[in-house]
Amino acid sequence: MTFDHLDARAADLDAAHATTDLRERFLLPPGVVYLDGNSLGALPRAVPAAVRDAVEQQWGRDLIASWNTHGWWDAPVRVGDAIGRLVGAAPGQVVVGDSTSVRLHQSLHAAAALRPGRSVVLTEPGSFPTDQYVVAGVAAQLGWRVEHAAPAEIPSRLSPDVAVVVLSHVDYRTGELLDLPSITAAAHDAGAVVLWDLCHSAGAVPVGLDEHQVDLAVGCGYKYLNGGPGAPAYGYVAARHQDAFVNVVPGWHGHAQPFAMADQYVGASGISRARIGTPPMLSLLALEAALQAFDGVDIHDVRARSLSLTRFLRDAIADVLPDAAFVSPEPDGLRGSQVALRHPDAYGIVQALAARGVVGDFRSPDVVRLGVAAPYLTHADLVTAVRALRDVLDAGEHRDPAWARRNPVT
Ligand SMILES: Cc1ncc(COP(=O)(O)O)c(C=O)c1O
Repeated sequence: MTFDHLDARAADLDAAHATTDLRERFLLPPGVVYLDGNSLGALPRAVPAAVRDAVEQQWGRDLIASWNTHGWWDAPVRVGDAIGRLVGAAPGQVVVGDSTSVRLHQSLHAAAALRPGRSVVLTEPGSFPTDQYVVAGVAAQLGWRVEHAAPAEIPSRLSPDVAVVVLSHVDYRTGELLDLPSITAAAHDAGAVVLWDLCHSAGAVPVGLDEHQVDLAVGCGYKYLNGGPGAPAYGYVAARHQDAFVNVVPGWHGHAQPFAMADQYVGASGISRARIGTPPMLSLLALEAALQAFDGVDIHDVRARSLSLTRFLRDAIADVLPDAAFVSPEPDGLRGSQVALRHPDAYGIVQALAARGVVGDFRSPDVVRLGVAAPYLTHADLVTAVRALRDVLDAGEHRDPAWARRNPVT
């Protein structure tokens, strides 16, 4: 395939997907093709003014009254509902605040309370490090055993001992999309609950939390939700589990009467029971403004655009790098919103591409990871990226000794 042909194909596809091109809702630097939105999402246009208002008017002028007059107190649940719309959760089941790691910790303890008498947490090897560390840490606290199985083996490894199955909906390294409906159903058949990490799917892939009767889920705000660096995370607790939800971090914001300043903890009802302490309000308001980028947008349409983009990118890479060892699955149904491949010079490729304005990332030991945030990318952007890849490879820029010296794994 020639680049002329790719340019023409990209133009056709961009025309066909014109209604889901949301680039105008983002502020991206000129000359950059940003393929790292699965690590830190781009800046939505609505955010700077919202943050300025939060700082200057709300904090600066209205001071502490803002907890009421500007809706600060209710923000964790209000923003949770906005995220809920994107992950298929009806209002009142998602709360925002704290980090994914903290939300994982909290949710695992809640799962233990939902399944007393069971002592196994079933997960997969190779999940994101924080998930592995938190699972191991909570298992040690609870006296649970951690069992690992490849996602395809999970259903056959379920037993009456399994309290909870913990998995990432989309794998952070390979971009593989797991079959959430069937794994969730299999876990339920075995009497276990499921806890899904949605970091790499929320805002990119329909999740259908309510539809598939997921029990618990967590995710971050800074990837495809574009909430900014360190944006607060969220936790989902299905309505049917909220009365029995035990909050292992019973902070005062989750109290039934927080301003009674009572000595004893009494959990609030509903999703507020999962609140912990004072949320990072500026980040929370930035996330709320960022979510406006999805106003009026159906996540299924984002997914359709993403599939077209990732398929196009994969084919175009295969064209300039015929021996590309893709780790992201080829079939649409198994692919999240990234294209990833292994290469011995992966680190050098990522660095050389960045020097040409194509920003992807490297994941140890040898993965080039190209995140495709559909709202702000076009097929034409991807041709630019693949042209840069071809130029890097042709010129041997990826073998520049400067990159080798800085590669942490060599
Ligand atoms: C699957 C997954 N879980 C968790 C995290 C991060 O957790 P935290 O937000 O606590 O840093 C990431 C970050 O990339 C991730 O990819």
